Amino acid sequence: MLIIESIADMRQFVRQAWAAGKTVGLVPTMGALHEGHLTLMRQACAACDVVVASIFVNPTQFGPNEDFAAYPRDLASDSEKAAAAGVAAIFHPSVAEMYPTGFSTYVRVEGITEKLCGRSRPGHFQGVTTVVNKLFHIVQPDKAFFGQKDAQQVLVLQRMVQDLNMDITLEVVPIVREADGLAKSSRNVYLSAEERQAALVLSRSLARAQQAVAAGECDVAVLRELVTEEIAAQPLAAIDYVELYGYPGLEDIDRLSGRALLALAVKIGKTRLIDNCILEAKACF
Ligand code: PAJ
Repeated sequence: MLIIESIADMRQFVRQAWAAGKTVGLVPTMGALHEGHLTLMRQACAACDVVVASIFVNPTQFGPNEDFAAYPRDLASDSEKAAAAGVAAIFHPSVAEMYPTGFSTYVRVEGITEKLCGRSRPGHFQGVTTVVNKLFHIVQPDKAFFGQKDAQQVLVLQRMVQDLNMDITLEVVPIVREADGLAKSSRNVYLSAEERQAALVLSRSLARAQQAVAAGECDVAVLRELVTEEIAAQPLAAIDYVELYGYPGLEDIDRLSGRALLALAVKIGKTRLIDNCILEAKACF
């Protein structure tokens, strides 16, 4: 497996793949690879002839008081994991390579970026759409793979691909969880043993809402209250948001009808974690 640091070399690698008639898959990541990322990579390898994984901790998607500097970085261990998953090349550019002096062009999706994580992290999605746009231009993949763990990110990127007529198929992979339910995340390494246990409140509260829906509850306010109550009972947890929107449009709803996205952002100690599930109302009137 190759580790490629320059945009020119990345382009050269992809040109060779095309010349050999091969399809190219891209898995964008910020590294600190875990089973969630590796599932995306394995799926990409099953669907494409040549898979490129990018590892780039993207400064433009972090707010000034967020964890850009502290974000875990371990290229040696990431490379071993990506190679074992079947990745052909890691694209690992420097910040200067991606954002040279004078850089001043950004891609911004309106509307759906103003809710959920977009409200709590102003500028975050502009950073994501800008860097993913650049990665798409550099690698020009046939398919790109993203996780449902970041449900809003997927919706924003689908909007971008559609609005800008990009000839790239986005493949979405379900959330990969630890055996006890915690969604895998690069940020889980920040958690102390006590916080790790407390973090189970995210998946537990989602499960509680799913059970209530299965039992016929359709009132959005009641469902939000159930989840909020469950999280509030955990002393180490502080809610950033608990939101329920129609899915995939993210429209406001009072009652479930069809699919809805239940999304959470919760701080466990200093670590902000997100999780979500799709609720499907079967018998609401
Ligand atoms: P990162 O958080 O490293 O995640 C990279 C990809 O892995 C994303 O598509 C994310 O949704 C997926 N992923 C993370 N945890 C997952 C899990 N538990 N199950 C399934 N998929 C999971 O998301 C980003 O990086 C960045 O915003 C990026 C798209 C790379 C742009 O910088």
